[in-house]
Amino acid sequence: MSAEDGTERIISGTPEEDDISLDTTLRPKRLAEFLGQEKVKENLRIAVAAAQGRDEPLDHILLYGPPGLGKTTLANIIASEMRVNIRTTSGPAVERPGDVAAIITSLKEDDVLFIDEIHRLNRTVEEKLYPTMEDFVLDIILGKGPGARSLRLNLPRFTLIGATTRFAMLSAPLRDRFGVVYRLDFYNEEAIAAIIERSARIMGIEAEGGGVKEIARRSRGTPRVANRLLRRVRDYAQVMAEGVITEKVALEALSRLEVDHLGLDELDHKVLLAIIKKFDGGPVGLDTIAASISEEADTIMDVYEPYLLQLGFLERTPRGRVATRHAYEHLKLPYKQSPQLGLFSP
Ligand SMILES: Nc1ncnc2c1ncn2[C@@H]1O[C@H](COP(=O)(O)OP(=O)(O)OP(=O)(O)O)[C@@H](O)[C@H]1O
Ligand SMILES: [Mg+2]
Repeated sequence: MSAEDGTERIISGTPEEDDISLDTTLRPKRLAEFLGQEKVKENLRIAVAAAQGRDEPLDHILLYGPPGLGKTTLANIIASEMRVNIRTTSGPAVERPGDVAAIITSLKEDDVLFIDEIHRLNRTVEEKLYPTMEDFVLDIILGKGPGARSLRLNLPRFTLIGATTRFAMLSAPLRDRFGVVYRLDFYNEEAIAAIIERSARIMGIEAEGGGVKEIARRSRGTPRVANRLLRRVRDYAQVMAEGVITEKVALEALSRLEVDHLGLDELDHKVLLAIIKKFDGGPVGLDTIAASISEEADTIMDVYEPYLLQLGFLERTPRGRVATRHAYEHLKLPYKQSPQLGLFSP
């Protein structure tokens, strides 16, 4: 695990190989263990209690937000709070309409069907899903040609939970069929610190308040990043400092990981520098930025951009992305208002 390896993205919210087993041990199982996201939690608590009171399944739920904020975790928690089974699949895995039929007919009353990356379902599959979500029926065509008959199956009433990092990519008819949409936002620093403390407890790591705080500051408001940084700092503490994560140890470890004090890594810097230096601060299209630094536009859009927008370093305008004064200041560059913005010069 070398931090010098430039291809490694420590701050990326998307899971990497060694996160996966850790993800499962650290993943909260009940709503009470799920820290932060108070508004979403409160709404969920009410929805669960109401559905249980009426002895009905929950409405279909759409969870959206950047990678690593807890969508999969929440979907599992919802099922366990409702005391029902969860069946998990993902948009790209459901290829044919027949797959929908196979999955849905295996559900029992009140079960949860969790479709991750739901924006990647293809259109014919989506269309097959609509009547199952709306009326809990499935039309099956038997035979071919003039003799074909259609058979309508009544399905158990289930709850579909969809997760997506790309709300805008969902078709309007699919979006409309969800009773509730919960948007997960980046966590504040206190919530991230609480998550780090919880993870440290589970992993048997001794971490002092100051150390936790340093890790939290650089975690981009993302629990998955927080857990990953914690693990790296633990390694450093174990080898260099008898295992205790003090503030000093955390600072030393984190500075070696080349993540700056806001949690920005080399690629964030590259994106900002490209906009500022190659495109005069913008506006410039995302694809152009991506091409100029040989990165995938999708990665920038899903993993990097949301946090840069949240920090106020980037702005989205109809003509493309613009670097703000805060971005210049963070990079210690003299601010120059973008000539293309058409505002008066000072
Ligand atoms: N609120 C939370 N409290 C404590 N730990 C959390 C919380 N949310 C997420 N985590 C931790 O972060 C990890 C990543 O969360 P999860 O896999 O649910 O994210 P996700 O939104 O589904 O990401 P992706 O978009 O990549 O699928 C979990 O394994 C869990 O350990
Ligand atoms: Mg997930």
